[in-house]
Order: sequence, then C-alpha cells, then structure tokens
Amino acid sequence: MNVTGIEQGSYFVGRLSSVLGGRDLLPYLGELHASALPRRFEELVADEPAFETKRFGSVWQLRLYRIWVYCLVRALEPRVFVETGVLHGMTSAFVLEALERNGGDGRLISVDLPSYAETGPANVDGYQGTLPPGREPGWIVPDELRDRWELRLGPSLDVLPGLLEREGEIDVFLHDSDHTYETMTGEFELAWPRLRAGGALIADDSTDNAAFADLCARVGREPLLFPNPNEQPHDRLGAGLVLK
Ligand SMILES: C[S@@+](CC[C@H](N)C(=O)[O-])C[C@H]1O[C@@H](n2cnc3c(N)ncnc32)[C@H](O)[C@@H]1O
Repeated sequence: MNVTGIEQGSYFVGRLSSVLGGRDLLPYLGELHASALPRRFEELVADEPAFETKRFGSVWQLRLYRIWVYCLVRALEPRVFVETGVLHGMTSAFVLEALERNGGDGRLISVDLPSYAETGPANVDGYQGTLPPGREPGWIVPDELRDRWELRLGPSLDVLPGLLEREGEIDVFLHDSDHTYETMTGEFELAWPRLRAGGALIADDSTDNAAFADLCARVGREPLLFPNPNEQPHDRLGAGLVLK
C-alpha cells in the first residue's frame, strides 16, 4: 500500500470506528503493524515459486480490506465467524490472528470450493485465481493459528445450510467466494437470518453486481463501502459491510 493507501486506510478505519459507535480502533492498527504475520507469510511462501515476486514487508502491503476486517474482529470479538472463499488463506490468517489476540473462544469456519492448479478456477464469475500446484486451500495460514479454524470444502450453497443450522447463531459472515448474483444472494439469504443483532455481514467485491445493494435495501440497512486502494482504478469501490 502506498502513502495514498495508508491515508485511505486510516480514513476508512475512522469510518469503521464511527459505525461501531466510536470504538477506538487505532490500538488494533498499531498491534497489527507490529505483528509477526507478514514475516510468517514471507517464511511460508519462501519455497513457493508462484509467490517468488511477492513481498510482505509490512501489513500495509496486504490490502486495506484485510486490515479493517482485522480491526472489526478485534472490536466485535466474534464467537463464530463464517467466511466463504479461502484460496491461499490470506484473509483467513488475518481473522485467525485477530481471534487469537481476542483470547476468548472465537472460531473461524471457512467454506471453499477449491480452485486447484490442476483443475482450474472454481469461480464462474470470471475470476481466474488458482492455488499453486500441489497446494490446498488455506496453505498460507500459519500452523500456530489453526487451532481455532475449521475448513469445509464444497460449494458454499451446499455447505452453508447444514453448517449454519449446526451453529444456530453467528456473529460475522464474510462472502468472498463466487461473485455471481445467484451465489451472493444465496449466501446472504442463508447467513443474514443467522446473524445476531449487532453482527456484521461483509461482502468483498460488493459492487460487482446488485446482490449486496439488494440485501441492504431488503433489510433496510445502510452499508459502509470501502475502496480497494491497491487495485486499478484507485477509486473503485470494493468490499462492503453492513451491521444487523
Ligand atoms: C477471491 S478467492 C478468495 C480469496 C480470499 N478470501 C482472500 O481474501 O485471501 C475466491 C475463492 O472462492 C472459491 N470458490 C469459488 N466458487 C465457490 C463456491 N461456489 N463456493 C465456495 N467457494 C468457492 C475459489 O476456489 C477461491 O478459493
């Protein structure tokens, strides 16, 4: 993230603070800045040719989105966080790091239909990302963060009904699997009724189609939309957050 990115990051963490009732999120930014996570990523990708050109000198190079998700997890202290779409597991690692810092019994449950290098992208929305050859979803999640993690493999719309039934109530839902209107709306319709009052629903690529806007209109909630400063064009809106 460049200087503009850091400025935008601070601005949007400030906006996140106001939707969370004025919670001071700066200490979380400070601890993340000092965290060992980027160094751990460097170690874990060291023998991975597909990541040869990637450098993780600081958390600021790892997307604003993951930084504010980290702050949200620290502030809300979720007991159950459900995400769809894992790929390498970068965002999962940020969530798990925040749950670890929270120190309670918080868990992350992730659902991924794998995009193996050998079989190609599972996404039907045009996203072409795949795992490096021979790697499993979440391969970049450090071992020391895996105790609070459950990974379920399969299409989100097949896995979520039983999973959400088992959990009963969840605190955070994050969508980042297949960004088609059908998958996004299907996931939101399953997850929203299971969210506790005050819980958070996050959608990455929330403006790719009308699914997230339609959800917000249906439930009568104003979303907070975040830009993707690392992506082109710089002012493109990316992730969205809505509180229940
Ligand atoms: C954009 S990547 C996720 C990136 C990850 N959330 C991050 O920020 O590091 C999308 C992931 O969703 C998976 N996926 C695609 N279609 C899916 C589906 N129908 N159900 C669950 N996962 C799916 C892909 O295999 C891929 O791993």
